[in-house]
Amino acid sequence: DWSMGTFIEDTIREIREQVGDRKVLCALSGGVDSSVVAILIHKAIGPQLTCMFIDHNLLRKGEAEGVMETFVGKFDMKVVKIDARERFMSKLKGVDDPEKKRKIIGNEFIYVFQEESAKFDDFEFLAQGTLYTDIIESGTATAQTIKSHHNVGGLPEDIKFKLVEPLKALFKDEVRKVGEECGLPEEIVWRQPFPGPGLAIRVLGEVTEEKLHIVRESDAILHDEIAKAGLKREVWQYFTALPNMKSVGVMGDGRTYSHTVGIRAVTSIDGMTADWARIPFDVLERISNRIVNEVENVNRVVYDITSKPPATIEWE
Ligand code: XMP
Repeated sequence: DWSMGTFIEDTIREIREQVGDRKVLCALSGGVDSSVVAILIHKAIGPQLTCMFIDHNLLRKGEAEGVMETFVGKFDMKVVKIDARERFMSKLKGVDDPEKKRKIIGNEFIYVFQEESAKFDDFEFLAQGTLYTDIIESGTATAQTIKSHHNVGGLPEDIKFKLVEPLKALFKDEVRKVGEECGLPEEIVWRQPFPGPGLAIRVLGEVTEEKLHIVRESDAILHDEIAKAGLKREVWQYFTALPNMKSVGVMGDGRTYSHTVGIRAVTSIDGMTADWARIPFDVLERISNRIVNEVENVNRVVYDITSKPPATIEWE
């Protein structure tokens, strides 16, 4: 695609002009956005780029390991992994408001980057995978704020970084095209979007280890069954959410009083609007049975059949 090729060339030139011989730190999450950002900047300035991957304890099952394997193993990139799990959990303790969670996580991300990067090198720029969609949804003087996406406009006052945001004019489908063009592997290019605040906004209310465990395990089952059914490409985004409610069930001779897991699966082009995915009933049945049987303290599974609008894709 001629225009994508031009975009890549132009962007590489712009990054070189902006950065010069200084150093860039990239917030690598393993999603398509930050991966494409890392690739573009790596193409532009090579060893001046260091990627930092923060494990904030809000990742999906196996995600931290997968990111390190891909970027350290397959690509010749410098990736520093930071274990910030306890730090994020203690900041989130007692917090149940979705926007407060987003703010705390977004700010903590930046503080962790600042502190950790100061330990081993002197960076002037921070790279971010901000998209056009993030900018419009975060609101301007004329647009109403829907959600404060953590990666937009949320820099604390005392921050020292300048931002490099090479994707801020792109929609998600264009990011994937750039990724393909840059030779990123298919599993990254087609990886579904995952929000910066991660599982914190899929666990409704206060974030606890127990709730994270239920979402992580049920989500892994959902992913497994969607893949087995050959539906990975048909469903744009799919995940489980924990509505933070318990209900009565029956198991053997006994009454149970356990968590409900919600399945969210949507088709969409760019996340701005979405329709609930018509996953075949037999696939949903397998998912439901496995979740109730394999995940402790769950006795009910529900399927979200609302579109966006009026609902959002995430439950918080
Ligand atoms: P909503 O829930 O607003 O989601 O319909 C639209 C798309 O954005 C993702 N999303 C986020 N991404 N930080 C992010 O980086 C956030 O706080 C956030 N909230 C939602 C969501 O997963 C979907 O792809």
